[in-house]
Amino acid sequence: MAESELGAVAGEPSVKPASPAAAVDDPNAVYALGSSSGESARLQRQAEELAPDSLALLDSVGLRPGDIAIDVGCGPRGVIDLLAERVAPGGRVVGLDADPVHVAMASEFVARRGLSDVEVVCGDARNTGFEAGSFDLVHARTLLITVPQPAEVLAEMVRLARPGRWVAGLEPDTEAAICYPPHPAFDRLCEIFSMAFSRNGADPRFGRRMAALYRQAGLEDTTVEVRAGVYPAGHSRRTIRADLVRSMHLQIIEMGLADQLELDELDVAARKHFENPDVLVMPGLYFLARGRKSASV
Ligand SMILES: C[S@@+](CC[C@H](N)C(=O)[O-])C[C@H]1O[C@@H](n2cnc3c(N)ncnc32)[C@H](O)[C@@H]1O
Repeated sequence: MAESELGAVAGEPSVKPASPAAAVDDPNAVYALGSSSGESARLQRQAEELAPDSLALLDSVGLRPGDIAIDVGCGPRGVIDLLAERVAPGGRVVGLDADPVHVAMASEFVARRGLSDVEVVCGDARNTGFEAGSFDLVHARTLLITVPQPAEVLAEMVRLARPGRWVAGLEPDTEAAICYPPHPAFDRLCEIFSMAFSRNGADPRFGRRMAALYRQAGLEDTTVEVRAGVYPAGHSRRTIRADLVRSMHLQIIEMGLADQLELDELDVAARKHFENPDVLVMPGLYFLARGRKSASV
């Protein structure tokens, strides 16, 4: 896809902030989960794990062949392939992410899958640089929960949508987690997770705010559905809380929330508990939201 067809493509973000003031402007500096090879691998797994929920959401917005769609904060894969299947033939898909490593991984995924008419660009979801009204679907998954000012990102998503077409997303709400029978290591991991995740202003209970934020952003026909996954022993989603704490372990130690020894002990104890097939694990809720941009703007 030619860049000019969709207007200006966002430029490379500054990965390393030059000063504290610049840090506020750097999307990678405030992103809750940080960048690491372990976290990128988790996101690759997540694309498979959340595919059934994302498919339900995408099917509800009636994408058609020839449509143009964007996955904002696509990570190393996101829903790029699901979008590409739905807009072919004749459609186009853009994946956008602020992390150059994820942009490279998503581009490699697109090439490996032989997906045509898909472009992955590096940019900031708060200010993408694309022209207003460029997309029939503007989608983001597990992005708004990770940023300090989700309304700012949502406003940009609404701006990008074509009048009469859709903005949609899937976001977790991590407060309603269940591990039964309970285990102190899981409880402590949840406590550490919440404090570390929210260090820059991200809200681990974001899911419940989606309905109001979508309406306040001016979207119409908004609907919200909530889903809860219960994952059996051996399922990769069962350990997500421990996996997310692993992704943030450097920040956790830096914040003084726990030391490496405690993190290692909690990790081992929680994973051992999860191996028991009689233990029920429901790591959180997923909110699926959609809203239509007014046809008259
Ligand atoms: C939790 S991951 C989700 C990835 C993908 N959507 C998925 O569901 O697998 C969030 C992604 O958003 C990206 N991100 C965070 N803040 C961003 C911003 N301001 N602009 C663009 N991308 C951003 C991160 O680099 C990361 O790849």
